[in-house]
Amino acid sequence: MKGKSLNFSRSWRKELLKVKLFGVEFKNPVWVASGTFGFALEGKKIYEPSKLGAIVLKGLSLKEREGNPPQRIVETPCGMLNTIGLQNPGLERFLKEIYPKIEKIGTNLIANIFGETLDEFVQVCKGLEDCKSIVAYELNVSCPNVEKGGIYFGHDKMALAKLISRVKGAVKKPVLVKLSPNVEDVREFARVCVEEGADGIVLINTLLGMKIDVRRKRPFLSKTFGGLSGPAILPVAVRMVYQVYESFGDKIPIVGVGGIYDTYSALEHILAGASAIQVGTANFFNPLSPLEIIKGLEEFLREEEFKSFKEIVGLAHKNAKT
Ligand SMILES: Cc1cc2nc3c(=O)[nH]c(=O)nc-3n(C[C@H](O)[C@H](O)[C@H](O)COP(=O)(O)O)c2cc1C
Repeated sequence: MKGKSLNFSRSWRKELLKVKLFGVEFKNPVWVASGTFGFALEGKKIYEPSKLGAIVLKGLSLKEREGNPPQRIVETPCGMLNTIGLQNPGLERFLKEIYPKIEKIGTNLIANIFGETLDEFVQVCKGLEDCKSIVAYELNVSCPNVEKGGIYFGHDKMALAKLISRVKGAVKKPVLVKLSPNVEDVREFARVCVEEGADGIVLINTLLGMKIDVRRKRPFLSKTFGGLSGPAILPVAVRMVYQVYESFGDKIPIVGVGGIYDTYSALEHILAGASAIQVGTANFFNPLSPLEIIKGLEEFLREEEFKSFKEIVGLAHKNAKT
């Protein structure tokens, strides 16, 4: 009898966290963020990655990239700076050497794509169309557009619009756009995503920052500036998710990323309007945090007597007005 009720409760809890976004089913809304879980090969040693709602793979480009020279990462108060330089094996090696090892991992894979030209983005996405376990593309637009003098795609509305429409026109899988927070008003860039028919908006990539090595009296990182991530950026990310949800509501799903390290911080993103969340830097200081968050979200929904995860997405807006 005891066993029976336990089974019932387990399957009920499983259902509670299921989400369907852009036509894809996710067993739960907790994903790991690009660049913080590699190509999911290392994570396997710590826990069963099939427990995750999705794994966003490390940024992939057409050609192999070595990345920047050291020093590439440094710790900061409540966060870290990185200037990895998008090191990756390139499309061909990914398809030959990596994808066959991860395609049966047991959860959704999302490919994080970047390019220096529109064509590169399109070619990488097209090259992945036959990979069945890859359920969507996440375009990293925080990279320089060489055709436009190096201005980031994500900082130039015209270039962003062209990019989304070119990629959408060329592929069948859903296309998510991961926006840069280093702009004056992120809502304007979110509007471009909505107008061009993107399937989701991912908020946010890292914030530009720097650290000085006081003993050597010089910048710490080899490229002077780096991307700030970790709990330090949580309030900025939550603010941006809130603003974009306020402007576009249910028109486009938002995936929240930035500073999430426990259930409370994940819930902040969700109540602000995120339909799924990604854990990034926390994977480095507490690799089990995504699993703790899955459990914590289930407990929260149960304790607060919500019938589905969907009910709490964006709830902070309703309560802010009462
Ligand atoms: C070491 C490192 C590498 C990253 N690489 C990528 C990447 O390849 N593509 C991308 O879109 N974002 C990349 N990011 C950004 C994260 O996916 C995430 O958006 C950001 O770190 C904010 O989330 P967090 O505060 O939870 O880390 C990287 C972040 C870190 C710390």
